[in-house]
Amino acid sequence: MSTKILVIGACGQIGTELTTKLREIHGTDNVIASDINTRQLNLVNSGPFEIIDAKNFNAIKDCCKNHNIDTIYLMAALLSATGEKYPMEAWDLNMNSLFHVLNLAKGGTIKKIFWPSSIAVFGPTTPRENTPQHTISEPTTVYGITKQVGERWCEYYYNKYGVDVRSIRYPGIISYKAMPGGGTTDYAVEIYHDAIKKGRYKCFLSENTSLPMMFMDDAIKATIDLMQAPEDNLTIRSSYNLSALSFTPQEIFESIKAQLPEFSITYKPDFRQAIADSWPSSIDDSVARKDWNWKYGYDLDTMTNVMLKELKKKYKS
Ligand code: SER
Repeated sequence: MSTKILVIGACGQIGTELTTKLREIHGTDNVIASDINTRQLNLVNSGPFEIIDAKNFNAIKDCCKNHNIDTIYLMAALLSATGEKYPMEAWDLNMNSLFHVLNLAKGGTIKKIFWPSSIAVFGPTTPRENTPQHTISEPTTVYGITKQVGERWCEYYYNKYGVDVRSIRYPGIISYKAMPGGGTTDYAVEIYHDAIKKGRYKCFLSENTSLPMMFMDDAIKATIDLMQAPEDNLTIRSSYNLSALSFTPQEIFESIKAQLPEFSITYKPDFRQAIADSWPSSIDDSVARKDWNWKYGYDLDTMTNVMLKELKKKYKS
Protein backbone atom coordinates (compact mmCIF):
# COMPACT_ATOMS: atom_id res chain seq x y z
CA MET A 1 0.00 0.00 0.00
CA SER A 2 1.36 3.42 -0.87
CA THR A 3 1.91 5.97 1.85
CA LYS A 4 -0.40 9.01 2.24
CA ILE A 5 1.28 12.15 3.42
CA LEU A 6 0.05 15.41 4.93
CA VAL A 7 2.40 18.42 4.90
CA ILE A 8 1.30 21.07 7.41
CA GLY A 9 2.78 24.49 6.66
CA ALA A 10 3.34 23.53 3.02
CA CYS A 11 3.49 27.14 1.79
CA GLY A 12 6.52 28.06 3.90
CA GLN A 13 10.15 28.23 2.79
CA ILE A 14 10.91 24.54 3.42
CA GLY A 15 7.34 23.23 3.06
CA THR A 16 7.07 24.42 -0.54
CA GLU A 17 10.10 22.50 -1.76
CA LEU A 18 9.53 19.52 0.51
CA THR A 19 6.01 19.07 -0.85
CA THR A 20 7.25 19.19 -4.43
CA LYS A 21 9.91 16.58 -3.67
CA LEU A 22 7.51 14.30 -1.80
CA ARG A 23 5.10 14.48 -4.75
CA GLU A 24 7.90 13.45 -7.11
CA ILE A 25 8.64 10.44 -4.92
CA HIS A 26 5.16 9.32 -3.83
CA GLY A 27 2.89 10.72 -6.56
CA THR A 28 0.99 14.02 -6.51
CA ASP A 29 -2.28 12.60 -5.20
CA ASN A 30 -0.56 10.90 -2.27
CA VAL A 31 0.76 14.17 -0.82
CA ILE A 32 -1.81 16.58 0.63
CA ALA A 33 -0.41 20.09 1.04
CA SER A 34 -1.94 22.31 3.73
CA ASP A 35 -1.39 25.75 5.14
CA ILE A 36 -3.31 28.47 6.93
CA ASN A 37 -3.59 30.38 3.66
CA THR A 38 -2.98 29.95 -0.07
CA ARG A 39 0.06 32.23 -0.42
CA GLN A 40 2.02 29.84 -2.70
CA LEU A 41 -0.36 29.64 -5.65
CA ASN A 42 1.91 27.36 -7.68
CA LEU A 43 1.82 24.80 -4.93
CA VAL A 44 -1.88 25.23 -4.22
CA ASN A 45 -2.68 24.61 -7.89
CA SER A 46 -0.29 21.73 -8.40
CA GLY A 47 -2.06 19.03 -6.34
CA PRO A 48 -4.40 18.37 -3.41
CA PHE A 49 -4.47 21.31 -0.99
CA GLU A 50 -6.40 21.96 2.23
CA ILE A 51 -6.62 25.07 4.39
CA ILE A 52 -5.56 23.97 7.88
CA ASP A 53 -4.72 26.03 10.95
CA ALA A 54 -2.03 23.93 12.65
CA LYS A 55 -3.44 24.96 16.05
CA ASN A 56 -6.76 23.31 15.25
CA PHE A 57 -6.68 19.65 16.31
CA ASN A 58 -10.00 18.77 14.68
CA ALA A 59 -8.98 20.30 11.36
CA ILE A 60 -5.84 18.12 11.28
CA LYS A 61 -7.72 15.06 12.47
CA ASP A 62 -10.53 15.45 9.90
CA CYS A 63 -8.06 15.95 7.08
CA CYS A 64 -6.12 12.82 8.12
CA LYS A 65 -9.33 10.82 8.25
CA ASN A 66 -10.68 12.08 4.92
CA HIS A 67 -7.45 11.34 3.10
CA ASN A 68 -6.32 8.21 5.02
CA ILE A 69 -3.10 9.96 6.03
CA ASP A 70 -0.38 7.81 7.64
CA THR A 71 2.58 10.24 7.64
CA ILE A 72 2.73 13.91 8.69
CA TYR A 73 5.43 16.52 8.08
CA LEU A 74 4.72 19.36 10.51
CA MET A 75 6.48 22.39 9.02
CA ALA A 76 4.34 25.21 10.50
CA ALA A 77 6.16 27.34 13.10
CA LEU A 78 6.86 30.88 14.19
CA LEU A 79 10.64 31.41 13.87
CA SER A 80 13.18 33.11 16.11
CA ALA A 81 12.82 36.81 15.28
CA THR A 82 9.00 36.74 15.07
CA GLY A 83 8.89 34.66 18.25
CA GLU A 84 10.66 37.44 20.17
CA LYS A 85 7.95 39.88 19.04
CA TYR A 86 5.04 37.52 19.73
CA PRO A 87 6.20 35.13 22.47
CA MET A 88 2.80 33.69 23.40
CA GLU A 89 1.78 33.19 19.78
CA ALA A 90 5.05 31.34 19.13
CA TRP A 91 4.51 29.12 22.15
CA ASP A 92 0.87 28.51 21.19
CA LEU A 93 1.54 27.57 17.56
CA ASN A 94 4.84 25.71 17.96
CA MET A 95 3.74 23.59 20.92
CA ASN A 96 0.08 22.92 20.21
CA SER A 97 0.64 21.91 16.61
CA LEU A 98 3.24 19.40 17.80
CA PHE A 99 0.96 17.98 20.49
CA HIS A 100 -1.87 17.62 17.98
CA VAL A 101 0.26 15.56 15.65
CA LEU A 102 1.91 13.50 18.43
CA ASN A 103 -1.48 12.73 19.94
CA LEU A 104 -2.90 11.64 16.59
CA ALA A 105 0.05 9.29 16.22
CA LYS A 106 -0.41 8.02 19.76
CA GLY A 107 -3.98 7.19 18.77
CA GLY A 108 -2.54 4.87 16.14
CA THR A 109 -3.71 6.18 12.77
CA ILE A 110 -0.55 8.16 11.99
CA LYS A 111 2.48 5.91 11.60
CA LYS A 112 5.32 8.41 11.10
CA ILE A 113 5.99 12.07 11.88
CA PHE A 114 8.64 14.53 10.79
CA TRP A 115 9.04 17.57 13.00
CA PRO A 116 11.87 20.06 12.52
CA SER A 117 13.95 21.32 15.40
CA SER A 118 16.67 23.95 15.04
CA ILE A 119 20.12 25.16 16.05
CA ALA A 120 18.03 27.53 18.20
CA VAL A 121 17.78 24.80 20.87
CA PHE A 122 21.31 25.82 21.84
CA GLY A 123 22.16 28.90 23.88
CA PRO A 124 25.01 31.04 25.14
CA THR A 125 26.26 28.33 27.52
CA THR A 126 26.54 25.73 24.74
CA PRO A 127 30.03 25.09 23.28
CA ARG A 128 29.95 27.28 20.15
CA GLU A 129 32.37 25.41 17.90
CA ASN A 130 31.54 21.94 16.68
CA THR A 131 28.56 21.78 19.03
CA PRO A 132 28.07 18.13 20.08
CA GLN A 133 24.84 16.16 19.68
CA HIS A 134 24.48 15.91 23.47
CA THR A 135 25.49 19.10 25.27
CA ILE A 136 24.30 21.99 27.42
CA SER A 137 21.15 23.45 25.92
CA GLU A 138 19.87 26.62 27.60
CA PRO A 139 18.13 28.53 24.80
CA THR A 140 17.36 32.22 25.38
CA THR A 141 14.77 32.73 22.63
CA VAL A 142 11.11 31.73 22.77
CA TYR A 143 11.57 29.86 19.51
CA GLY A 144 14.54 27.97 20.95
CA ILE A 145 12.57 27.10 24.08
CA THR A 146 9.70 25.71 21.99
CA LYS A 147 12.12 23.59 19.97
CA GLN A 148 13.96 22.32 23.04
CA VAL A 149 10.75 21.39 24.81
CA GLY A 150 9.38 19.93 21.59
CA GLU A 151 12.42 17.67 21.33
CA ARG A 152 11.80 16.40 24.85
CA TRP A 153 8.18 15.63 23.99
CA CYS A 154 9.15 13.84 20.76
CA GLU A 155 11.53 11.59 22.65
CA TYR A 156 8.91 11.06 25.37
CA TYR A 157 6.23 10.02 22.87
CA TYR A 158 8.69 7.64 21.22
CA ASN A 159 9.76 6.03 24.51
CA LYS A 160 6.36 5.97 26.13
CA TYR A 161 3.97 5.32 23.24
CA GLY A 162 6.23 4.08 20.44
CA VAL A 163 5.43 7.06 18.19
CA ASP A 164 7.83 7.00 15.23
CA VAL A 165 8.77 10.69 15.25
CA ARG A 166 11.93 11.85 13.52
CA SER A 167 13.61 15.23 13.70
CA ILE A 168 16.51 17.33 12.51
CA ARG A 169 18.02 20.48 14.05
CA TYR A 170 18.01 22.54 10.88
CA PRO A 171 20.61 25.27 10.52
CA GLY A 172 19.73 28.40 8.49
CA ILE A 173 18.29 27.25 5.16
CA ILE A 174 19.10 29.08 1.94
CA SER A 175 16.82 28.84 -1.09
CA TYR A 176 15.51 30.80 -4.08
CA LYS A 177 11.89 29.61 -4.34
CA ALA A 178 9.78 30.66 -1.32
CA MET A 179 11.18 33.36 1.00
CA PRO A 180 11.91 32.52 4.63
CA GLY A 181 10.01 34.59 7.16
CA GLY A 182 10.86 35.80 10.63
CA GLY A 183 14.18 34.01 11.16
CA THR A 184 17.60 35.28 12.22
CA THR A 185 19.38 33.40 9.43
CA ASP A 186 17.11 35.04 6.77
CA TYR A 187 19.88 37.52 5.94
CA ALA A 188 21.67 34.77 4.00
CA VAL A 189 18.69 34.59 1.61
CA GLU A 190 17.94 38.33 1.46
CA ILE A 191 21.55 39.08 0.53
CA TYR A 192 21.24 37.17 -2.77
CA HIS A 193 17.97 38.89 -3.69
CA ASP A 194 19.39 42.35 -2.95
CA ALA A 195 22.62 41.55 -4.80
CA ILE A 196 20.60 40.95 -7.97
CA LYS A 197 17.93 43.63 -7.43
CA LYS A 198 19.91 46.50 -5.92
CA GLY A 199 23.62 45.67 -6.11
CA ARG A 200 23.95 46.42 -2.39
CA TYR A 201 22.80 44.90 0.90
CA LYS A 202 22.29 46.27 4.42
CA CYS A 203 22.96 43.39 6.79
CA PHE A 204 21.18 43.13 10.15
CA LEU A 205 24.00 40.99 11.62
CA SER A 206 27.61 42.07 12.13
CA GLU A 207 30.25 41.04 9.61
CA ASN A 208 31.93 38.34 11.74
CA THR A 209 28.83 36.52 12.95
CA SER A 210 29.40 32.90 11.97
CA LEU A 211 26.30 30.66 11.85
CA PRO A 212 25.57 27.12 10.63
CA MET A 213 23.80 27.17 7.24
CA MET A 214 22.69 24.80 4.49
CA PHE A 215 21.43 24.95 0.91
CA MET A 216 17.79 23.90 0.49
CA ASP A 217 18.55 20.86 -1.69
CA ASP A 218 20.68 19.44 1.11
CA ALA A 219 17.99 20.16 3.71
CA ILE A 220 15.37 18.36 1.62
CA LYS A 221 17.70 15.43 1.01
CA ALA A 222 18.42 15.16 4.73
CA THR A 223 14.72 15.22 5.57
CA ILE A 224 13.82 12.52 3.04
CA ASP A 225 16.85 10.37 3.96
CA LEU A 226 16.00 10.50 7.65
CA MET A 227 12.37 9.59 6.98
CA GLN A 228 13.42 6.66 4.79
CA ALA A 229 16.09 5.36 7.17
CA PRO A 230 15.35 1.95 8.77
CA GLU A 231 13.85 2.49 12.22
CA ASP A 232 16.47 0.28 13.87
CA ASN A 233 19.32 2.50 12.69
CA LEU A 234 18.05 5.56 14.53
CA THR A 235 19.57 6.28 17.94
CA ILE A 236 18.21 9.81 18.39
CA ARG A 237 14.53 10.45 19.00
CA SER A 238 14.90 14.02 20.20
CA SER A 239 16.52 15.64 17.14
CA TYR A 240 19.64 15.08 15.06
CA ASN A 241 22.43 17.67 14.77
CA LEU A 242 22.98 18.41 11.09
CA SER A 243 25.79 20.36 9.53
CA ALA A 244 26.84 21.62 6.12
CA LEU A 245 28.25 25.17 5.95
CA SER A 246 29.35 27.76 8.47
CA PHE A 247 30.00 31.29 7.22
CA THR A 248 29.84 34.93 8.26
CA PRO A 249 28.03 37.77 6.43
CA GLN A 250 31.44 38.93 5.20
CA GLU A 251 32.22 35.51 3.73
CA ILE A 252 28.91 35.16 1.88
CA PHE A 253 29.36 38.75 0.65
CA GLU A 254 32.76 37.83 -0.77
CA SER A 255 31.38 34.72 -2.42
CA ILE A 256 28.76 36.87 -4.19
CA LYS A 257 31.20 39.68 -4.99
CA ALA A 258 33.46 37.23 -6.81
CA GLN A 259 30.65 36.95 -9.37
CA LEU A 260 29.17 40.46 -9.07
CA PRO A 261 32.21 42.72 -8.58
CA GLU A 262 30.07 45.88 -8.06
CA PHE A 263 28.18 44.37 -5.12
CA SER A 264 28.56 46.25 -1.81
CA ILE A 265 27.50 45.65 1.79
CA THR A 266 26.94 47.72 4.95
CA TYR A 267 26.30 46.41 8.46
CA LYS A 268 23.62 47.62 10.83
CA PRO A 269 23.03 44.95 13.49
CA ASP A 270 19.59 45.02 15.13
CA PHE A 271 17.90 42.89 17.83
CA ARG A 272 18.63 39.74 15.82
CA GLN A 273 22.35 40.10 16.58
CA ALA A 274 21.76 38.98 20.17
CA ILE A 275 19.87 35.92 18.90
CA ALA A 276 22.68 35.00 16.52
CA ASP A 277 25.28 35.52 19.27
CA SER A 278 23.49 32.95 21.43
CA TRP A 279 23.71 30.21 18.75
CA PRO A 280 26.59 27.89 17.76
CA SER A 281 28.83 28.77 14.85
CA SER A 282 29.42 25.17 13.76
CA ILE A 283 27.80 21.81 14.47
CA ASP A 284 29.12 18.29 15.01
CA ASP A 285 26.78 16.00 13.06
CA SER A 286 28.75 12.76 13.42
CA VAL A 287 25.72 10.89 14.85
CA ALA A 288 23.58 11.70 11.77
CA ARG A 289 26.49 10.64 9.55
CA LYS A 290 26.79 7.34 11.37
CA ASP A 291 23.09 6.53 11.80
CA TRP A 292 21.74 7.40 8.34
CA ASN A 293 24.79 8.27 6.22
CA TRP A 294 24.17 12.01 6.15
CA LYS A 295 26.51 13.97 3.89
CA TYR A 296 25.98 17.47 2.48
CA GLY A 297 26.56 18.35 -1.17
CA TYR A 298 26.74 22.15 -1.53
CA ASP A 299 29.61 24.35 -0.37
CA LEU A 300 29.34 28.15 -0.22
CA ASP A 301 30.52 28.92 -3.76
CA THR A 302 28.49 26.14 -5.37
CA MET A 303 25.42 27.46 -3.57
CA THR A 304 26.20 31.04 -4.64
CA ASN A 305 26.39 29.91 -8.29
CA VAL A 306 22.96 28.31 -8.14
CA MET A 307 21.36 31.14 -6.15
CA LEU A 308 22.59 33.89 -8.48
CA LYS A 309 21.72 31.95 -11.62
CA GLU A 310 18.17 31.16 -10.45
CA LEU A 311 17.45 34.60 -9.03
CA LYS A 312 18.68 36.30 -12.22
CA LYS A 313 16.16 34.20 -14.16
CA LYS A 314 13.42 34.98 -11.67
CA TYR A 315 13.91 38.74 -11.73
CA LYS A 316 14.25 38.83 -15.51
CA SER A 317 10.87 37.22 -16.03
N1 SER B 1 16.29 29.73 10.55
C1 SER B 1 15.81 29.74 11.90
C2 SER B 1 15.76 31.10 12.45
O1 SER B 1 16.60 31.89 12.10
C3 SER B 1 16.69 28.87 12.76
O2 SER B 1 16.15 27.60 12.81
O3 SER B 1 14.93 31.38 13.26
